Amino acid sequence: MFKWFSKNGHHKTEPEKPTERRVVIDVQDVTKVYKMGEVEVHALRGVSLQIYEGEVVSIMGPSGSGKSTLMNILGCLDQPSSGVYKLDGVDVSVMPEQDLARIRNKKIGFVFQSFNLLKRTSALRQVELPLIYGGTSGRGKKARAALEAVGLGQRLDHLPSELSGGQQQRVAIARALVNEPAMILADEPTGNLDSRSGTEVMQIFQSLNREKGMTTVFVTHDPWIARHTQRVIMLRDGIIIADREVANPLVAGEVERPSEAEELEGLFRDAYYGGKREEYN
Ligand SMILES: Nc1ncnc2c1ncn2[C@@H]1O[C@H](COP(=O)(O)OP(=O)(O)OP(=O)(O)O)[C@@H](O)[C@H]1O
Ligand SMILES: [Mg+2]
Repeated sequence: MFKWFSKNGHHKTEPEKPTERRVVIDVQDVTKVYKMGEVEVHALRGVSLQIYEGEVVSIMGPSGSGKSTLMNILGCLDQPSSGVYKLDGVDVSVMPEQDLARIRNKKIGFVFQSFNLLKRTSALRQVELPLIYGGTSGRGKKARAALEAVGLGQRLDHLPSELSGGQQQRVAIARALVNEPAMILADEPTGNLDSRSGTEVMQIFQSLNREKGMTTVFVTHDPWIARHTQRVIMLRDGIIIADREVANPLVAGEVERPSEAEELEGLFRDAYYGGKREEYN
């Protein structure tokens, strides 16, 4: 009671509220069971999490821990076996497929490890495709602008085979962005890239977040990539075993990638000790 009086004696009616943050992703006790004939695979075993507008989150965990399963649910590509998933306040856990497809197309931009580009299709055309499905007008102009935004304004007519891996991933990012989605979901977007291209991809995601407040959820196996995000969620055997803020997220391209040992130490130092070296050891 007493502590709500400030030093100069004025009565404060309530403690200071943190700035209001809007929940975009609200997952409550979600499970996913795959039935393989007689065998059931429990890929998610009760996952709850909330992701706020404008957050950049990475999801980590060993192979088979349920990361892609969770991403598929977050992206409305699949639905939970039980539990509730609210996207932007709307319960999508039991929605019919055609409504889900509409939400996917409108709200979510997907980026995959393997780029998922069409082989015989130019960069410009790849980026136009979601607009064609959505029946949007002014497609050429919008697709060109999206490619320019990822630094590929000079590569509009190139086929995937005429682009580097990093450039192909940037086409995929332009394609994910062209519908102006509310969030980006990326399943190991840097998994097939050398570290320079990986850094370029992270720079794009970070500037999207900085400039447009884009909510971004990544799956990554790479602690160095995870350190460029604001929060790390760790999965194991279908449950969340850790969910922590990254104390000082790195700015892509500003710091040279350290050795693997230093990298891991850095991640854990930030996660456990808030980045204060003196408390570490
Ligand atoms: N469509 C499916 N049918 C049956 N089992 C599946 C299916 N998809 C995933 N699984 C199983 O569910 C578990 C979680 O798989 P998931 O793909 O989510 O893991 P992950 O964390 O993404 O792994 P990785 O790091 O290897 O990509 C695994 O045991 C996997 O074999
Ligand atoms: Mg996976």
